[in-house]
Amino acid sequence: MTIEWFPGHMGKAKQQISDLIRNVQVVIEVLDARLPASSSNRLLEELRRNKPCIKVLNKNDLADPAVTKAWVRAFEKQHGVRALPLSAKQHRDVNKLTSLCLRLAPNYGKPGRPLRIMVVGIPNVGKSTLINTLAGKNMAKVGDKPAITTCPQQIDLRNNIILSDTPGLLWPDMSDQVAAYRLASSGAIGAGAFDYTEVALFAGDFMMQRYRELLMGRYRLTEVPDSSTALLEQIGRRLGCLAAGGTVDLHRAAEAFLRELRAGKIGRVSFEEPGQHPGEAVVPPSV
Ligand code: G4P
Repeated sequence: MTIEWFPGHMGKAKQQISDLIRNVQVVIEVLDARLPASSSNRLLEELRRNKPCIKVLNKNDLADPAVTKAWVRAFEKQHGVRALPLSAKQHRDVNKLTSLCLRLAPNYGKPGRPLRIMVVGIPNVGKSTLINTLAGKNMAKVGDKPAITTCPQQIDLRNNIILSDTPGLLWPDMSDQVAAYRLASSGAIGAGAFDYTEVALFAGDFMMQRYRELLMGRYRLTEVPDSSTALLEQIGRRLGCLAAGGTVDLHRAAEAFLRELRAGKIGRVSFEEPGQHPGEAVVPPSV
């Protein structure tokens, strides 16, 4: 199944981001640390017009620490780019972000000359969570439905930094189906846009190749399954996802497996590494 998913009006969003970027000194692109390439949109490079950019590798608490370090090194080779792994829920992490913004625009962030920053990113990477932590209160709505950050806001962070929270909404590149399957595995794509079983089979294949030990440990597997279908069946048995007659309900097993994977219950996992062309990794089933 091909995954297709287009959050909102992309042309309008592009124009709004372009207009807003004119007035800011630092752009904060929020990426999912588990899949920094698939959760980015290359259009931002054009839109930011050489303004300094901080790539926030959010959900760092869920990502493989060694892979995240490699991403930071790779991003910091790019002109005008700094990378900062963090968890948007952690105030201490987010304070590092404001310090870095001030360092990148040393002529701003003074009385009468505020530093203007904006947050951009695709749905579900944690933009609203980050804005709320930056603001120290609930300004932006956080939720499980992608694309809910809609109304324009200017937030005075009270340290000579003004944060613009809109529109900030980029969209993922769905022409790359490996990226689409990674996004679906991570929970970034609306549930109606994909088939749970197919995405779980994709994620299971990936986990068997890259994080086999974590899988074996979490589900107390004694033998490596010979296919991702066999893996899902074993997981389904462990988690009690059974249909009448004691057979495994694969759909329920798929949902349960993806829920655990996304919540970090299996361990800290990264779906992609720098320098890895999306097509090089595991190919999604039936694509
Ligand atoms: P968005 O504005 O970019 O669309 O993303 P949003 O902040 O709504 O966050 C999407 C989901 O990601 C939320 O979970 C949020 O709690 C979670 N999240 C954000 N930052 C982090 C982080 O650093 N670590 C982890 N583990 N999760 C993070 P949700 O289940 O949709 O909502 P909720 O039940 O947590 O409110």
